[in-house]
Amino acid sequence: MSKDKVQIFDTTLRDGEQVPGCKLDTKQKLVIAERLDELGVDVIEAGFPISSPGDFNSVSEIAKLVQNATVCGLTRAVKKDIEVAAEALKYAKKPRIHTGIGTSDSHIKYKFNSNREAIIERAVDAVKYAKTFVEDIEFYAEDAGRTDNDFLARICEEVIKAGATVLNIPDTTGYCLPEEYGAKIKYLRDNVTGIHKAILSCHCHNDLGLATANSIAGVINGARQIECTINGVGERAGNTSLEEVVMILRQHPYLNLDTNINSKLLYDTSLMVSQKMGMPVQPNKAIVGSNAFAHSSGIHQDGVIKNRETYEIMDPEDVGVTESSIVLTARSGRAALAYRSKKIGYELTKVQLDVIYEDFLKYADRKKEIMDEDIHEIIEASSINIEK
Ligand code: KIV
Ligand code: ZN
Repeated sequence: MSKDKVQIFDTTLRDGEQVPGCKLDTKQKLVIAERLDELGVDVIEAGFPISSPGDFNSVSEIAKLVQNATVCGLTRAVKKDIEVAAEALKYAKKPRIHTGIGTSDSHIKYKFNSNREAIIERAVDAVKYAKTFVEDIEFYAEDAGRTDNDFLARICEEVIKAGATVLNIPDTTGYCLPEEYGAKIKYLRDNVTGIHKAILSCHCHNDLGLATANSIAGVINGARQIECTINGVGERAGNTSLEEVVMILRQHPYLNLDTNINSKLLYDTSLMVSQKMGMPVQPNKAIVGSNAFAHSSGIHQDGVIKNRETYEIMDPEDVGVTESSIVLTARSGRAALAYRSKKIGYELTKVQLDVIYEDFLKYADRKKEIMDEDIHEIIEASSINIEK
């Protein structure tokens, strides 16, 4: 049975780029956009064109460059924003305008000093106006995570009537629990008239570390687009991590969902974005962190050496990592020492291994991680004669 496709909407260059300390220039953004297109993302959110002349230029150049993905520009529900976005996107093969407004009571009261009826009117006007420029209109209900479900359903229904093709349901503040977010998506699917005309999209922030879990709960409940960034970069605790949602869907085939992503490019893309943004990836980051396929405790190493599947739920090659690593520390066992010694040319007998292992432990207690050159040194300094 063929799997349902979940569209991957990459917002590394818009929401991701809002991370403090990161400033990409147009040239760097073009290189990243080209790679995202190669990676197989369905939509590239290239920027927020009204925000600055530089961002306008980046969106415009990305629109000219990208061959496969839809190129999207963000706007507020403001006419001028929409006109500027349409201008920036005019050379895109597949343009999308992403417009919207805050829908939670706190946004309506404190940001807009307004009321629900007036917000619906602004949303509908924005979608209708955007529709005069391009066919593909995504509407975002900012702070949907804290928006009352009945009101959210009403505004969704009205913007669909106005021509929205995608409904973005952002958990802007990263507040929702997965159950709650999944139920919200289900509520919209069950209660919005005309919902079949639009795709529901998850846009989850990571303030409580739940962005990935919430996005997955969203697609399990019927959303068919996930908005995410490479390495999960983004404001505050970041956005949903692209590599995580892609591999979760791939590693759980019974969900019957997949993406168009070429997962073998994930690791390299992560590295590229990290370097260009100047944002290091934490070593224990799922999928792409430097420790994601590194095994350092003796029990785990012994298992992995016997069969990778004992402690690995995916093949590192599937995400572009050449092989798992067996890291030698004072917690490592004989199996790991024998394995690494063999890799650098020493085939140790059981007796030799027993002797070398004692020396190794003393060395490893002094030095945190034992590298190949240390193994050479330990073997050469040992009391027994070992030949390569
Ligand atoms: O988090 C959010 O609500 C957003 C919208 C502007 C789409 O980034
Ligand atoms: Zn966001």
